[in-house]
Amino acid sequence: MITGIRCFACERGHDPHALPTVCTACGMPLRVDYDLGAIRLRRGDGTGHRSGLWRYRAVLPLLEGDEITLGEGDTPLLEVDRNTWVKDESRNPTGSFKARGMAVAVSMARRLGARALSAPSAGNAAGALAAYGARAGLPVTVAMPEDTPRAFIDECRHFGATVHTVQGTISDAGKFLREHGPTGAFDVSTLREPYRIEGKKTMAYELVEQMAGDVPDVVLYPTGGGTGLIGMWKAFAEMAALGWIAAGRMPRFVSVQAAGCAPVVRGLETGAQRTDAWPDPVTRAYGLRVPAPLGGFLCLRALRESKGTALAVAEDEIARATGALAARSGIDVCPEGGAAWAALATLRESGFVKASDRVVVFNTGTGLKYR
Ligand SMILES: Cc1ncc(COP(=O)(O)O)c(C=O)c1O
Ligand SMILES: [Zn+2]
Repeated sequence: MITGIRCFACERGHDPHALPTVCTACGMPLRVDYDLGAIRLRRGDGTGHRSGLWRYRAVLPLLEGDEITLGEGDTPLLEVDRNTWVKDESRNPTGSFKARGMAVAVSMARRLGARALSAPSAGNAAGALAAYGARAGLPVTVAMPEDTPRAFIDECRHFGATVHTVQGTISDAGKFLREHGPTGAFDVSTLREPYRIEGKKTMAYELVEQMAGDVPDVVLYPTGGGTGLIGMWKAFAEMAALGWIAAGRMPRFVSVQAAGCAPVVRGLETGAQRTDAWPDPVTRAYGLRVPAPLGGFLCLRALRESKGTALAVAEDEIARATGALAARSGIDVCPEGGAAWAALATLRESGFVKASDRVVVFNTGTGLKYR
């Protein structure tokens, strides 16, 4: 029950029956709105009927039968310490949380008439797009930085996608596709269409169900383009409107970035409304190497509104924490998840996280593809 598609920045309405991109007035990302007062979706509804994120269909844009699925969602929430859990997104198809966003975005793109798909990526989004495109029967073209580990590239080719490697970062890969990509392919880049957020927001719905209706005090999220953070921020507001949680209840969100690419951290520190492009971004946590996120202003809004914070983690500390969490927990930790784990230790020391706080750290993907 969508009531409309509106711009996150200027609120201009857009046609929900056309393939939406960014705001036609200001170029900023679009948001999908629902008539939440009329939606009857109770916590625990659909458990046992449907698996994964599709049990939140009432707050997704899809009609019955339109879904392109590989069994995404339903990832475990694993206790790793007292009052501390890891939401292990490595268990999704193609090994990352990107599957959630692509499942919904590819389903909607096909329903709305897309004939081909493309996206720039740091690695995981490309693999997910290639898989869901294959499932939908739509040709996929992706572009990634040339130093992206081999496994990400091989995975896309395995799913039949056309892969371009580009000198520079994900920004350069996006530019390459806009200039040289296949004509007519629908661009499912981060926040350049509104539906990946809708898929990603289901992480927060799952979290609240797994915590039996409770809301964690702190959520640490490795932030690159920001879709996961923005999606969950949206989801907590929706859950309040649905009556799942008290109005205004939300975890304190923590954006974790790499010291070599931390535009959101800098934006928060300087009190800015928008993030500035990060010059010469460097990190082996490739998903965090996003120098100029289109949704940077929304990340800042989510962090401020939730009374959260943002933290940059040094490269050697990311590597150390990734190994340490994997070795103590058995979870297949990726560097981005390791960064979030490292940030938690710092925030405990600073007192931002107290021993009584219930904390959730996101491991956004598998560590296997980085070797
Ligand atoms: C493993 C991993 N973690 C985190 C991110 C950052 O994602 P988001 O766009 O939600 O900030 C990415 C993006 O590529 C990723 O691959
Ligand atoms: Zn606008």
